[in-house]
Amino acid sequence: MSQLVIAKLLHLVAISIWIGGGLHAILDARYSLRREKPHLEAFVERMRAAGRTLLAAGLVAFATGLWLVAIKGGFKALPPRIHAGMGVTILIFAVGPFTFVALSRLGEALSRDDAAGVAASSRRFRVLAWIEELLRVAVLGLMVSPL
Ligand code: HEM
Repeated sequence: MSQLVIAKLLHLVAISIWIGGGLHAILDARYSLRREKPHLEAFVERMRAAGRTLLAAGLVAFATGLWLVAIKGGFKALPPRIHAGMGVTILIFAVGPFTFVALSRLGEALSRDDAAGVAASSRRFRVLAWIEELLRVAVLGLMVSPL
């Protein structure tokens, strides 16, 4: 198998987990955040684990993306849409810590039995999870365009 095939397969596996895992987190939040304790605490635990998997998938997507760039002859040999895709991917990594903080605040508000804090951090987590997911899908569009 050539380097190009291996790098592209790894890239595709990583982005599938990144996009699919992100969508799963959004759907989990949609159902779990309507519920009460102890479901909310279990949700925070699940999202901490999911966050680690999503970060690993994102880093593999980025690393294999750079590998593909090298195989294809460097950034100068690639169209601007790939450069833009890389820029948006960096933006996703910049949003990630805010999503993590919203999740941590949700855990803290739960342990204080602070209903207003739970509502505010839940909303923030859901909005940020959506932003990350939409940015990932936007990068997918940039990578495959024109279809
Ligand atoms: C959310 C993140 C990303 C997604 C969803 C994504 C998706 C994809 C997909 C689906 C392909 C296959 C396109 C095709 O064969 O027609 C691809 C190829 C590629 N990706 Fe990504 N990618 C992401 C991040 C990155 C990053 C960060 C880089 C660079 C640092 C990168 C560089 C490349 C390159 C160079 C190719 C090969 C393009 C070509 O064959 O002309 N990707 N990507």
